[in-house]
Amino acid sequence: MEVMYVLSSVVFLVLIQLVVSKNETINCQVNTFQTKQNFDLKQYLGTWYEMKWLVPFDVPVADRYLDYRHNYTMNTDNQVLVSITARNSSKHCLYFNAYLNLTATPGKMVLSLQPDGGGDTYTYWVIDTDYVNYALTYACGEMLPNGTCGKVRSWIWSRKTSISQTLLNSTEVLLNGLCVDASSLITTSHVEDACSKQNDDAVITTSSCWCLIIPIVVYLSIFHLI
Ligand SMILES: *[C@@H]1O[C@H](CO)[C@@H](O)[C@H](O)[C@H]1NC(C)=O
Ligand SMILES: *[C@@H]1O[C@H](CO)[C@@H](O)[C@H](O)[C@H]1NC(C)=O
Ligand SMILES: *[C@@H]1O[C@H](CO)[C@@H](O)[C@H](O)[C@H]1NC(C)=O
Ligand SMILES: *[C@@H]1O[C@H](CO)[C@@H](O)[C@H](O)[C@H]1NC(C)=O
Ligand SMILES: *[C@@H]1O[C@H](CO)[C@@H](O)[C@H](O)[C@H]1NC(C)=O
Ligand SMILES: *[C@@H]1O[C@H](CO)[C@@H](O)[C@H](O)[C@H]1NC(C)=O
Repeated sequence: MEVMYVLSSVVFLVLIQLVVSKNETINCQVNTFQTKQNFDLKQYLGTWYEMKWLVPFDVPVADRYLDYRHNYTMNTDNQVLVSITARNSSKHCLYFNAYLNLTATPGKMVLSLQPDGGGDTYTYWVIDTDYVNYALTYACGEMLPNGTCGKVRSWIWSRKTSISQTLLNSTEVLLNGLCVDASSLITTSHVEDACSKQNDDAVITTSSCWCLIIPIVVYLSIFHLI
């Protein structure tokens, strides 16, 4: 009888252990999420093209940006400047500026948009990156009383305007670990070369040249000089 009692207790304890450990595998507590180990900001600097994104509100298709890109540079004051370029759905180039402010934990940063970009501030955690191909960033905009996240922002970045399916699959696994449904992320279209102020200026310069040439030609032809 005693043997039976001990055995059933053991079985009971094993079952409890299974249930508990099953719960541990789906831990959605934001404060347990791991960021990239030994995050190296210097290697992270430079250009990242947005591949997929998630914000905690609905963005109508007409308001979604194309060719969205961040360029991180460090200035002499050790501030990380973020220059953001994108096109709106009518293909107009847009330029915003932000700071990536550091915290005591490397990899846990704060993206602080300038007023031209809406002035929003949100956490920016680098969950994983290999620095040369891809990065996965995450931000929790509202922590619920039970420690899970109510308002998630997340981005998958690539050093190029495309990303391999293999890397996308591994970000999907990481997103599951953050209790984010990977299928809810929206894919960013990269249709043209990223916007650049220099190119825009060049366009303005050539068109202003034409603005001068046309009146000259008109003037000359009016006076039958050509
Ligand atoms: C496991 O999680 C579920 C749902 O989150 C909860 O109802 C249950 O009590 C948890 N079980 C244990 C043993 O913590
Ligand atoms: C990123 O910014 C740096 C510093 O302003 C600049 O030198 C570099 O060309 C930029 N990269 C791209 C791809 O625009
Ligand atoms: C795109 O930006 C341009 C210039 O700011 C603006 O005139 C146009 O209405 C915008 N289009 C959309 C769809 O937001
Ligand atoms: C981020 O850093 C910039 C420049 O140092 C500062 O102006 C801004 O207030 C900071 N933002 C936050 C949210 O700390
Ligand atoms: C945490 O709280 C939110 C909001 O009340 C609820 O939707 C969610 O299921 C809770 N999560 C867990 C793991 O208890
Ligand atoms: C990515 O995942 C999908 C679905 O899980 C699978 O069918 C596909 O073979 C995977 N692709 C690569 C390149 O790993």
